[in-house]
Amino acid sequence: MAIQSGRNFLHTPGPTNIPDRVLRAMMRPAVDLNDPEFMAMALSCFGDLKKIFKTGSDVYIYSANGHGGWEAALVNVLSAGDRVLVPETGHFSFNWSAMASSLGLEVDYVEADWRRAVDPNAVAERLRADTNQSIKAVLIVHTDTATSVTSDIPAVRKALDDTGHPALLMVDTIAALATVPFEFDAWGVDVAVAASQKGLMQPPGLAFNAVSKKALAAAEQATLPRNYWDWQRRHGREFYSHFCGTAPEHQLFALREALDMVLEEGLDAILTRHQRLSNAVRAAVEAWSQNGALSFNAIELEQRANSVTTILVDEPYNADALRETCSSRFNVSLGAGYGRLQGRAFRIGHMGYLNEPMILGALASVESSLALCGIPHGSGGTDAAIASLSAEK
Ligand SMILES: Cc1ncc(COP(=O)(O)O)c(C=O)c1O
Repeated sequence: MAIQSGRNFLHTPGPTNIPDRVLRAMMRPAVDLNDPEFMAMALSCFGDLKKIFKTGSDVYIYSANGHGGWEAALVNVLSAGDRVLVPETGHFSFNWSAMASSLGLEVDYVEADWRRAVDPNAVAERLRADTNQSIKAVLIVHTDTATSVTSDIPAVRKALDDTGHPALLMVDTIAALATVPFEFDAWGVDVAVAASQKGLMQPPGLAFNAVSKKALAAAEQATLPRNYWDWQRRHGREFYSHFCGTAPEHQLFALREALDMVLEEGLDAILTRHQRLSNAVRAAVEAWSQNGALSFNAIELEQRANSVTTILVDEPYNADALRETCSSRFNVSLGAGYGRLQGRAFRIGHMGYLNEPMILGALASVESSLALCGIPHGSGGTDAAIASLSAEK
């Protein structure tokens, strides 16, 4: 293996860069799981997560990845044979719906082209047609990391309200939280699923559910088998019950430090930073897309994610060869195309612990790799990103 000096630039859309502060917070021995200081620290995380989700409702912390968070959301509120409506956003709506099917749920999948946000009218149409209200939940991916399209959650909420349909609104905000606004209470979300390894700057390994009162009430009727995932079991008097067993101590040390960092910078400032950095990425991709083989996957400007940008590569050029060059020559890791975009797209992750020089370094490396791989592209992408950043005070 060739030795690469300097840091790896991690521009995959999860896992993302873990700040040194967060890494250091984990560099310590395990503690007694009933240590009062530890328990107080762990409990404080629940309260601060509520600030991130913007909710007064309950939040649950699982030792799991995003898939665990998905499963927790499903098994707590649904029963075998229940119908769920899943508007297609891309790879991740498909995988969540496949999980729902495997759990014995009936999936009503609203097909779409992976290049646009969820159409609230299509959702409303399906809900209106469901006259006996057999759809129990709408499952929507806020930002589909495969497509880099962000959907409008309040618009989907409005589709539910306008049709008077009582289905629960369940949102996967795994690749959106702390990169674009998210308002659990104000938007009327019933279950939000998030994970530690994206905008929240922690190692992979924690999943979160934020849960409305309506969803908690639904959980009382729901009969899908559950134990570890069960929200109710996590309300026991003993600290032990909050994690359904031994707390994931080091993950919680990391979470505490990352939450401190989020609160110090401020959520609004974090969203502004993500907007600024993603504007720079978009400026570069716009320039590269002129008269070449590259294009944005997300067609509409206002639907492009603040966390990741998926770039399509025309045949006969190979997106994986570009990623390989970027990694081996420049030590910059990019995301691969997923699902139907495998080999046809690469993704630049721009969420979490990032600043301008990191983004500019990554974009310059992509631009050099495009040249090295002989992939036709418009010139001046990195210059356009510099101009974008210089235009913003
Ligand atoms: C939007 C979205 N949902 C779900 C997942 C699945 O999360 P995990 O890989 O942590 O299980 C991912 C992972 O990238 C994701 O981006």
